[in-house]
Amino acid sequence: MKSMHVRITPSILNANFNDLANEIAKVASDSDLIHLDVMDNIFVPNFTFDFETASKIIRDCPIPIDAHLMVADVDRIGVEYAEIGSNSVTFHIEASEHPEKLIREIKKHGARAGVAIKPNTPFADIANLINQVDMVLVMTVEPGFGGQSFMENQMAKVAQVRTALNSVERDIWLQVDGGISLETIEIATRAGADTFVAGSAVYKADDPAEMVRKLRLLAEKSTEQS
Ligand code: DX5
Ligand code: ZN
Repeated sequence: MKSMHVRITPSILNANFNDLANEIAKVASDSDLIHLDVMDNIFVPNFTFDFETASKIIRDCPIPIDAHLMVADVDRIGVEYAEIGSNSVTFHIEASEHPEKLIREIKKHGARAGVAIKPNTPFADIANLINQVDMVLVMTVEPGFGGQSFMENQMAKVAQVRTALNSVERDIWLQVDGGISLETIEIATRAGADTFVAGSAVYKADDPAEMVRKLRLLAEKSTEQS
């Protein structure tokens, strides 16, 4: 078993959009990356930022950005998010027509490339990409909204991805996104996740930074035990 390094990537989806700089500043020094949910109201029934607004968030963010693209035209938009300086760009396999080309382009612009799967998408749909990506994101809710319940029935898939990643030499991150909280993070860690998006758990907390630290501690503890 390779040693696992825990990463916490707060999602600002449920933060106060009118005061984002301050919302990000609250958690920046305790977090690994800031998770930026980009939705186009086509791939998912919700809209978050236009490209100009997202670019400004990325430019001003004091820590690396983890862009999660829930957009239909991802083969084009994915490259743009790499170009403007996202540290990591994650696309949905369900939306990409040319995933291998997209991964190459994202990396060419110096970003990490991640591939995401929705709850009904099997691991088999991305198994051939494991050798190319830097991160796999297993959604633990239907993408589109924050504040939904964690889908524990996705844990078998997380475990399947973990087994596949363990056979690869490179360090590929395994992220879960949706319903991650103090109640669920250990379940996801035990299944094999090492990178955790937390939106409402962090931004509904009285002290968001303290919540990030608590989530990290719990995940680290269950990593040691597994
Ligand atoms: C949902 C987004 C998530 C969302 C998670 O489609 O991809 O990143 O912000 O929010 P919580 O942690 O509240 O489930
Ligand atoms: Zn997300």
